[in-house]
Order: sequence, then structure tokens, then C-alpha cells
Amino acid sequence: MERKRIWLDCDPGLDDAAALFMALGAADRLDLEGVSTVAGNVGIDPVTRNARGLLALAGREDIPLHAGCPRPLMTAPVDAAAVHGTDGIGGVPLPAPTVPPQTLHAVDAIDAFCRRGLTGAKGTLVLTGPMTNAALAIVRAPDMLAGLDRIVFMGGVAFGAGNITPAAEFNFASDPHAAKIVLGSGLPCIMMGLDVTRQAEITPARITALADIGSPVSKSLAAMMTAYQGRVGKPVLHDPCTIAWLLQPDLFTGTDCHVDVDCESSLNLGRCVADPYGATGKPANATVMTGLDAKGFFDLLTDCVGRV
Ligand code: RIB
Ligand code: CA
Repeated sequence: MERKRIWLDCDPGLDDAAALFMALGAADRLDLEGVSTVAGNVGIDPVTRNARGLLALAGREDIPLHAGCPRPLMTAPVDAAAVHGTDGIGGVPLPAPTVPPQTLHAVDAIDAFCRRGLTGAKGTLVLTGPMTNAALAIVRAPDMLAGLDRIVFMGGVAFGAGNITPAAEFNFASDPHAAKIVLGSGLPCIMMGLDVTRQAEITPARITALADIGSPVSKSLAAMMTAYQGRVGKPVLHDPCTIAWLLQPDLFTGTDCHVDVDCESSLNLGRCVADPYGATGKPANATVMTGLDAKGFFDLLTDCVGRV
């Protein structure tokens, strides 16, 4: 595969950590030009601290880390500390980072990443948290979008129940206006919603396979997954599905359709409104993934983590 330029905007977050390590392990195929953080699972300070610690653990503090928005565009902040711990990383210790976050705000860094694609190879924006940073970058200067080939995101649930409310998935519910802006960007989106990510259960055997790699990264990730399992019972790896698609798209099956987000309702705030039968007459703006080769996914994840 041709080497891809990517940017990861995330809210680490236990499954965000797995996605980051997966991208770092695929350095021969993915050029991770930067990481930015957004308030989501926990507040902007702990998610930024976690991202710095994860990069330090992987020996990749050379990758620029930019802190982003501390709250959603319009709605009150929500968090997922019950799932990820109040520290956002399940209490798993991370090394002290030696490099401070960049002074450039995440929104500006995302804009710069996209603009580099205007004169060179187009990039891919990968979103695994609330989409606040990306949405602000799009609204402020939409011409940057021509520097991207697509947006790959974890968020929403098209044909099932939510995980933070009956109607909505966490990233969409956290900032529904941002999700609506991203889906309305005009760029093709690859949507890794709960429809497909719920199939990526990291079982005890798969956690053991990670630990058995024996590296500091793999053992820490296994500890994070064990903490995750202790909190939710059935830990599923939502965010790494974005990276897996970039590396091996044939692990997934899906359907192209128009997707929108309910930003008006109270009961359905953040609900993903997918239109697979064309009832709206609107063109498809997303490929909604619904099928996963789970064994192939975990083989790929384990291989990538073993290379960090
Ligand atoms: O609903 C799952 C998503 O919400 C994942 O990105 C997880 O990290 C949380 O942010
Ligand atoms: Ca996340």
C-alpha cells in the first residue's frame, strides 16, 4: 500500500491508546504527522497528559502533540470517566513525558496538516473523540479540506442503540453539532460506528496475546485493556477500527448512505440519522461500516503493537 499521511485527533481514552499504538506500529505504512487532543472521555488536561505519556511510552515524542478544545461547541460537556477512569487511562501508569505539548492549538495544527495536502500528497484526518477541533477547523477555513482525501472517524451508531443514551453514541452525543459539521464537510467519510465496533471485543485471550508480546507498550496496553474489562465487562475496541481500515480495508464491509445528526432533540440529541434507502434524496456522505472480520482485526492489532 502507498504510505499515507495521517493526523489523529483523539481523547485518550483506553481505546484511543490502542488506536495510537496501532498507528505507531504501522509506521512503514502510516506517516502519523501529528496528534491532537480534545476533551471527551475526560477533560482536556488529562487527555493531553495521557497522549503525551503514550507517545513517551512508545518512544515517539518526536511526533508533535497539540492540545485542543476543552469543551463541545454548544452542548454541556459530558465525560466517560466511568469507563476510562478519572485519569482517562484506567489508572495504568505512563512514563513522564520529556517534551511539552506544542504551543499551536489543535485547530491550527489540523488546518496546517490539511493545507500541506494542497501542494503535496493529500492527507487523511482520523477522529476518535468528539469532533470539536475538526469542526472548528472546517468552519473557520473550509478551503483546507481540499488537502484531505477523506475523514475516517469513530462515532455514531446507524442501525442500533447508543452507548451513552439509548439514541446516541458517546462521540456524537458529546458534540452533536461538531459531528454534523464534519458529516456536512463534503468530504467522503468512513464511519466506524457502534454498528461495527461492537464486534471488536478484546477477550481475555486477546489481552493475553498482547501481554505475551512482552514489550513495555504491549504490557501497558494489556493492562489498560484489563482495566477496561474490569469497568465494562465486554471491552470493545472502538477507536482502533479507524486505523485498521486504513491498513486493511477488506476487514470491513459497509454501505454508502447519507448520514446526519440530530442536534435539536433532547431525547435523541446526537442521534445518527442514516438513510440507506435514499428516503431523503440526499447523496451519500459516508460509508457506514457494519461488518468486521474480528479475528483478522485482532491479528492486525497484535502485529502492529508488536512493532512499536
Ligand atoms: O463510543 C465510543 C467512543 O467514545 C470511543 O471513541 C471512546 O474512546 C469514547 O471516546
Ligand atoms: Ca475516543
